[in-house]
Amino acid sequence: MFSPIEWHIGAKGPVVRMLDQTRLPHEVIWVDCPDHQTVAKGIRDLWVRGAPAIGIAAAMGFALGAQAIKASTYDDFVRQLKPIHDTLAATRPTAVNLFWALNRMNILVQIHKDRSVEEIKERLIREAQTVHDEDIRRNVAMGDHGSKLIRDGDTILTHCNTGALATGGHGTALGVIFTAWETGKRIKVLVDETRPVLQGARLTMWELQHNKIPATLITDNMAGAFMKKGSIRLCLVGADRIASNGDTANKIGTYSVAVLAKAHKIPFYVAAPTSTIDFSIPSGDAIPIEQRSPEEVANVFGKVRIAPANVEIANPAFDVTPAKYITGIITEEGVFKPGELKRKLGRKRM
Ligand code: MRU
Repeated sequence: MFSPIEWHIGAKGPVVRMLDQTRLPHEVIWVDCPDHQTVAKGIRDLWVRGAPAIGIAAAMGFALGAQAIKASTYDDFVRQLKPIHDTLAATRPTAVNLFWALNRMNILVQIHKDRSVEEIKERLIREAQTVHDEDIRRNVAMGDHGSKLIRDGDTILTHCNTGALATGGHGTALGVIFTAWETGKRIKVLVDETRPVLQGARLTMWELQHNKIPATLITDNMAGAFMKKGSIRLCLVGADRIASNGDTANKIGTYSVAVLAKAHKIPFYVAAPTSTIDFSIPSGDAIPIEQRSPEEVANVFGKVRIAPANVEIANPAFDVTPAKYITGIITEEGVFKPGELKRKLGRKRM
């Protein structure tokens, strides 16, 4: 199972090893992060991205930071963990998996307050690896549930990148597509390029090509025309945070796809593990939207300037699709209508 991130024992001790996704598809470069500050930089600068992968990176970054602490008492250990937590928590605000994973690490520390500091450090490494392993299991289960919605011969539109690269392995929405393909369904994928950072063109096309799945790259503004022609049977996207009522934050441009899908009576599905559901917020209005650098919009792939100097630029990295546009949410527990999430999953969520 390909994974973009791993806990690795290097010559000088443990490192978090991540594939630098900003270099794909031209170069495959792995970066070893020796400390939690470098992990935080990797999350902020999109070396690792995608909600579940961000959560795994945060858990590993927390465990890595903990290893460097020298503390003889539990209280001193906890005091020194706080800035590590805060540095990682300040990287990207929208994907709730980041906060979910950090919270899980903090809970582990509290549960084991009677153990030695060295033992808690060991347990933090194991917990980060568990967060990773569980994510892969969830994605495979999501693939099983979601692939039942796909018929032989379907053309599926997807947005952004939701494959192995965005997760611990296999993927969410793209994972559903992989499972459908592996189970013999002859499908085609239409991939939005996903401006401004081009996760669709650079990453999703790279993954589909590696898996030999027929795929066509389109620019974001072509989706409506393909829907009107009747070329798309369903839309499948991922999520960065799903509110209790099913409103879903995902990569900017997702909302436009959802509205277009509704207008053309095309089913629109979100695939996400339950770690992406935030039951603490009632609706999408409470989801913080990350505002990224104007340079991402002003330049193509950080290199070629396409806008005049000194123009005003907006760059919200995510938008919120209201639940009314979403046909169903595919999770590792099954497929739910947005309005069913709270009743059916609310109490089980850890
Ligand atoms: O800014 P990114 O690349 O981290 O945004 C990623 C997305 O929006 C994905 O669609 C989402 O995280 C789901 S990933 C399985």
